[in-house]
Amino acid sequence: MKFLEFKHDVAAAQLVARIYDTPPLAFVHSFGCQQNVNDGERIKGVLTDIGYGLCDKPDDADLILFNTCAVREHAEQRVFGNVGALKALKEKKPGLIIGLCGCMANQQHIVDKLRKSYPYVDLVFGVDGIDTLPQLLVQKLAGQKKRILMDPAQRPVIVENIPIRRESEFRAWLPIMYGCDNFCTYCIVPYVRGREKSRKSADILAEFKGLVAAGYKEITLLGQNVNSYGKGLEEEIDFSDLLKLLCTVPGDYHIRFMTSHPKDASRKLIDTIAAEPRLCKHIHLPVQCGSDRLLAEMNRRYTVQQYLDLIEYARKTIPDVTFSSDIIVGFPGETEEDFAATLRLIEQVGYMQLFTFIYSKREGTKAALMPDPTTRKEKTDRMERLLKTQERIAMEKVTQQVGQTVRVLVEGYGRSEGSISGRLDNNLTVEFKADPLLIGEYARVRLTGTRATVLLGELCRC
Ligand code: SAH
Ligand code: SF4
Ligand code: F3S
Repeated sequence: MKFLEFKHDVAAAQLVARIYDTPPLAFVHSFGCQQNVNDGERIKGVLTDIGYGLCDKPDDADLILFNTCAVREHAEQRVFGNVGALKALKEKKPGLIIGLCGCMANQQHIVDKLRKSYPYVDLVFGVDGIDTLPQLLVQKLAGQKKRILMDPAQRPVIVENIPIRRESEFRAWLPIMYGCDNFCTYCIVPYVRGREKSRKSADILAEFKGLVAAGYKEITLLGQNVNSYGKGLEEEIDFSDLLKLLCTVPGDYHIRFMTSHPKDASRKLIDTIAAEPRLCKHIHLPVQCGSDRLLAEMNRRYTVQQYLDLIEYARKTIPDVTFSSDIIVGFPGETEEDFAATLRLIEQVGYMQLFTFIYSKREGTKAALMPDPTTRKEKTDRMERLLKTQERIAMEKVTQQVGQTVRVLVEGYGRSEGSISGRLDNNLTVEFKADPLLIGEYARVRLTGTRATVLLGELCRC
């Protein structure tokens, strides 16, 4: 693994200034997970570094970039729909540069499809290409007629200090590692994001300190499997050690992280969460399903019992800990019995939140070759039953919160007139009436009631 430093591209900035009388505008839209959103923030940073301004409508843009997600078919279809809609705009505005980057661009069959059917897409680069964007644009702006389609293979490098334009002034994403080595059989991520690579702890700490100094209150550490942080680094460090290191930074902030793979979530991690007041007492621990047979087919490498043991240890060790999870419905060969086991598991754990997905076949993964006789109708029926069950569980959990006084980070406006909305440690949101000047600050709120799964409260003067 090579560690590189980003350098400001003087030649690219000069070229942009020479070609455009006023700063050209870029529209950057990110699909997919937080990691991709964070990449999008860096793409914006790199563009502004060479003189681009940012706009929020494609119609105003000189450069349009879709930072894409490949995790489910629906995500890809949305991107193709969005790209297709740009054909007319390109005809009206021939100088417009259209680019596609992110996870879809790391799949050869997608690049082939773009080459064949989308001639007006000028620029395609993958998840590791953000630092190369100025040079790709130089080639385009210097009059190259040919399209630039980068090789979808990943680079074994980590580039530090890429400029960033964050979307929020008080909540920040902080990647600690990239890629994934787990190869769950349904999942495309290891293919598009490449092998796991961890950032050096000193680089993470430096970025973290910068965020705290800039007043960021919520910092979410990102990785596809944060629990295997440190693998391959020269230094001797694991994820718990990293958390402890970050918590030594003085300041008024809290830390979240995602995603924890249950097979690597250690008791040391649970003990660390219990011991560090700045770590949220909420763990996103995707289980995917409740059947041992299917967990093995998915290559998740834990059993339901091992998962439940971990939950029990966390409950014993961290008072008031809460959990959320991801569930896949309709994995190839899922029987009624398998699905019933999933329902039982979610009842048993009592998740605060569930992110639920119907299985989507991904070309190139192992599961794509498995027989999948269950009909779409059966899968959507199961999904409905799952959602109904979780709705009841979540309602119970949310109602149990009423009466407490909690600290929240105020994130924005609420739905009802004059209200603002904050997030609790356990990821639930609460709406309450207070001055919008509190947005971005901590507030103490007494929880007084509920509206579906949203809490209602009153600002506490205490
Ligand atoms: N690294 C994370 C998740 C990344 S993808 C983890 O292991 O938890 C986010 C979620 O998308 C996954 O947890 C899974 O529930 C879902 N997912 C991934 N591939 C999928 C597919 N092919 N079909 C449906 N859901 C999928
Ligand atoms: Fe995909 Fe599994 Fe890796 Fe998560 S851990 S990104 S689900 S392969
Ligand atoms: Fe999607 Fe890539 Fe994230 S496939 S979920 S954007 S890692």
